[in-house]
Amino acid sequence: MKTILTGIKPTGDVHLGNYLGAIRPGLKLAHSTKAQSLLFIADYHCLTSMHKASELSQATRHVAASWLACGLNTQKTIIYKQSDVPEIFELSWILSCFTPKGFMNRAHAYKAKQSTNKEDGKADLDSGVNMGLFNYPVLMSADILMFNATDVPVGEDQAQHVEFARDIAQKFNNNYGDTLVLPKPILSGQKLIPGLDGRKMSKSYKNTIPLFCEDKKFRKLIMKIKTDSLPPEAPKDIKNSTIFDLYKEFATDSEVLKLKAHFESGIGWGEAKQVLFEKLQEYFLPHRQKYNELMSHPDELDKILLSGAEKARQLAKPLLKNIKKVIGVG
Ligand code: ADP
Ligand code: TRP
Repeated sequence: MKTILTGIKPTGDVHLGNYLGAIRPGLKLAHSTKAQSLLFIADYHCLTSMHKASELSQATRHVAASWLACGLNTQKTIIYKQSDVPEIFELSWILSCFTPKGFMNRAHAYKAKQSTNKEDGKADLDSGVNMGLFNYPVLMSADILMFNATDVPVGEDQAQHVEFARDIAQKFNNNYGDTLVLPKPILSGQKLIPGLDGRKMSKSYKNTIPLFCEDKKFRKLIMKIKTDSLPPEAPKDIKNSTIFDLYKEFATDSEVLKLKAHFESGIGWGEAKQVLFEKLQEYFLPHRQKYNELMSHPDELDKILLSGAEKARQLAKPLLKNIKKVIGVG
């Protein structure tokens, strides 16, 4: 049987790119199959860089509430906080003993940090690298292998990590016989959603439109989307328009055709942005109500996560027990 598992790092506000690239396709996948599905908030992964307690706990709740508000069904998908499942960390150590150091040297987040250090002229290329960052892919492998996950939906940048999990599992199995299930990355196929400045929408570029923010701020951000300086009456190209790209993700086919015609006959950018704003407001109204409700009852939210962790542990415990027996410590 298939097991679909993915993890979300609680870093900053969930935005439209995350919604279209991860949340919507992720929920569709989870709800449309009979497979077991698990989703967790990777709070310990975040600890590699986030060292403020209140920020970490707030960001963790924010991400959990966002997925729940967007329709995650807790009857179909087990949702939990990584830090609530100690079995993962025990497995992480075991796996680290099967992970060639060279794998970690090649991990892209570590390499990126090293090249920033080089560009900054630092003599120590490992400056600012803690062991959490270096070992990040081992912990991610444990997240995946702890649940016999077969399918791991991730953004393209994370596919390498899933391949590491597969390679590490293979090394383990080569030594002890078939024990760990080999996972594969599942890419959403969703094209990258542009941000306010036309580049990929990303927290790192500070060009995002957050899903859950005040109406006024939300409208202001939509009005900031970069456009050309054509006058209102000039025909507009739908191909190079962030406004159109976003609109078509949320509107019906006939609404899309209508806006396309309007673009072709000439539309002012202010008006086009207003049309997009209203569409998004309408689409996200129920999500926002649910989000606000969850965030204003943090105890309830924590209970949902704890109950998910209990279910996850029930799955993890027998698997870990078997792994320990196989390696000779159980
Ligand atoms: P960010 O780039 O803002 O830090 P993350 O790396 O946390 O976003 O991405 C979380 C998930 O959202 C990943 O599955 C990623 O592929 C998806 N995602 C992020 N930005 C976009 C985007 N602009 N378009 C489509 N998917 C995106
Ligand atoms: N590293 C992933 C990211 O940055 C988050 C993550 C942690 C994850 N553990 C995972 C994703 C396990 C999939 C499976 O987005």
